[in-house]
Amino acid sequence: MPGHIPENILDDILSRVDIVEIIAGSLPLKRAGRNFKACCPFHHEKTASFMVSPDRQIYHCFGCGESGNAFKFLMRYERMDFPEAVETLAQKAGVILPKDESYEHQSGGQSTHLYKINELAANFYAHHLNSSEGLKAKDYLLKRGIKQETISALKLGLAPDKWDGLISYLRSKSISLNLLEKAGLVINKDGGGYYDRFRNRVIFPIFDLKERILGFGARVLDNNLPKYVNSPETPVYIKGKNLYGFNLAKDSIRDSDCVAIVEGYLDFLVPYQEGVKNIVASLGTALTIEQARLLKRYAHNVVMIYDADTAGEMATLRSLDIFIEEEMNVRIVSLPKGLDPDLFVRKHGVEAFKEMIVKAQNIFDYKLGVLKSRYNIKEIDDLAKVSSLMLETIAKFKNAVLKSEYLKKLAQGLNIKEEALLEEIKKVKTVKVSLNQHSAGIRKVSNVNPTEKLLMSLMLEENGLINRIKEALGPNDFQDERISRVVSIMFDLVGEGKKVEPQILMNHLGDDISELVCESVFLPQAQSDAHREKVVTDCIQRMKNESMKLERARLHEQIKIAQSSGDKERLEMLTQEFHSLIKTKAGKS
Ligand code: CTP
Ligand code: MN
Repeated sequence: MPGHIPENILDDILSRVDIVEIIAGSLPLKRAGRNFKACCPFHHEKTASFMVSPDRQIYHCFGCGESGNAFKFLMRYERMDFPEAVETLAQKAGVILPKDESYEHQSGGQSTHLYKINELAANFYAHHLNSSEGLKAKDYLLKRGIKQETISALKLGLAPDKWDGLISYLRSKSISLNLLEKAGLVINKDGGGYYDRFRNRVIFPIFDLKERILGFGARVLDNNLPKYVNSPETPVYIKGKNLYGFNLAKDSIRDSDCVAIVEGYLDFLVPYQEGVKNIVASLGTALTIEQARLLKRYAHNVVMIYDADTAGEMATLRSLDIFIEEEMNVRIVSLPKGLDPDLFVRKHGVEAFKEMIVKAQNIFDYKLGVLKSRYNIKEIDDLAKVSSLMLETIAKFKNAVLKSEYLKKLAQGLNIKEEALLEEIKKVKTVKVSLNQHSAGIRKVSNVNPTEKLLMSLMLEENGLINRIKEALGPNDFQDERISRVVSIMFDLVGEGKKVEPQILMNHLGDDISELVCESVFLPQAQSDAHREKVVTDCIQRMKNESMKLERARLHEQIKIAQSSGDKERLEMLTQEFHSLIKTKAGKS
């Protein structure tokens, strides 16, 4: 969690907003006893296991483990970053955030300038397109079936047919040439001086999820080459991290749990305009693992839409393995020869296009089809080649069931023995992509020692117990690292005379730990004070015994080491420690 917003302000904000109200704005919440429930928006389910607690001001999904407080909900559901979530709720709560220098600095600096310049440039280009000088270009776009509303929505523009159209405009706004060059908008001449990068071209601004402009693509109005000129990489435009149109498509992608990926600007624009809203464009480059992970936050189903030539290339198919590695479901549409999505929609209509998406083939069937048409699997050598190319893909599946089912399918499809494929797949080298939090998956909350978990939930439920437990146990008596951390924070907070609330604890904890805390809030708790009392006493005793046992084992281990290394002094010390440990146990129980 960022340190620049003081904790007490975060607590203040949380205490003034109601998580139920916030979540109800996005999900249909139903009452369930003291809590509310809904179908989880973070994974697919038919019965509601997403719970919201008005008392505790947190949410938790028993299906996928996603959980947190109001900040976290905005971060996950609205994809805000932490400062944005804080700002949004601060505004709602009427809390004024302090102007912290480091906070300013983070959102200030060069990047802010570059976004600002890009925005000025986009406005300039858009204005030019809508002026009398833009008539020809406007006509070109309209003739290609782009409607005025789309032109406005995507802020399309036109770069003037001059060497210094943008330069003189932005110079008049006192923007330095140096910054313009950093933004990739101008090019430095060999002999000194600068000229506009984009001239006499239709401009496509590229937005990020926060609607900031990262860079531009620019198309000629005729058949001249190069067809497109693009912004270079700049400090704000890192290619392969973003997708064209994502800012507009994200809600639809999330709601449908599916994203259609096309290649070009126009291939995005035309279907989008005609009603296919869950679509993005890769801008003609191979997808990166970052893009796959970005998409995975919104949807698990990907439909790649290619023209006939691209779809058939082995390199294309291979590039899709990143989705398999990210455990996403990837399917392929191969459009009829000579048509890209833009032309297809204009020729056959958007319903036919949607139909293609629905009927997309999964990568296994598609790849096998391509290979079978390319090789003659009646020839043994070809058969071996086809099976090894297919195994490359199958080996990428992390899920063992999928892997084995596809192996079975491949054996059937090629009419070979499954054992042979099993033998061969062992030889396929799988290059491991570094794991990030997403693919690491959900931590197994259930693995936690039940006694420790129970004590933690009791302390959360009844703050009065914290001091009592603090007297009997230290954070280190909790063997689970995560619980130990929660407990130590609870002890600290109580020591400072503060209330311990799950929603506030959350601000101190990482995702895996806060999941644990959130879950415990919804678990059945003590039925009565007397019952609770007995449970606590039992738990403390059990934990002490457990700690003792571990301590004994540890000492035992060290004694053995000291014995074998002949360290007499240490041996003596450890033995004494060991005896006094046994004595305390005897004395106490
Ligand atoms: N592209 C590029 N530079 C080029 C050609 C293509 O950056 N010289 C990128 C563009 O992002 C383009 C995408 O690759 O949108 C797909 O290229 P292509 O299919 O050739 O162009 P279209 O987008 O179909 O454009 P149009 O229909 O206007 O010809
Ligand atoms: Mn095209």
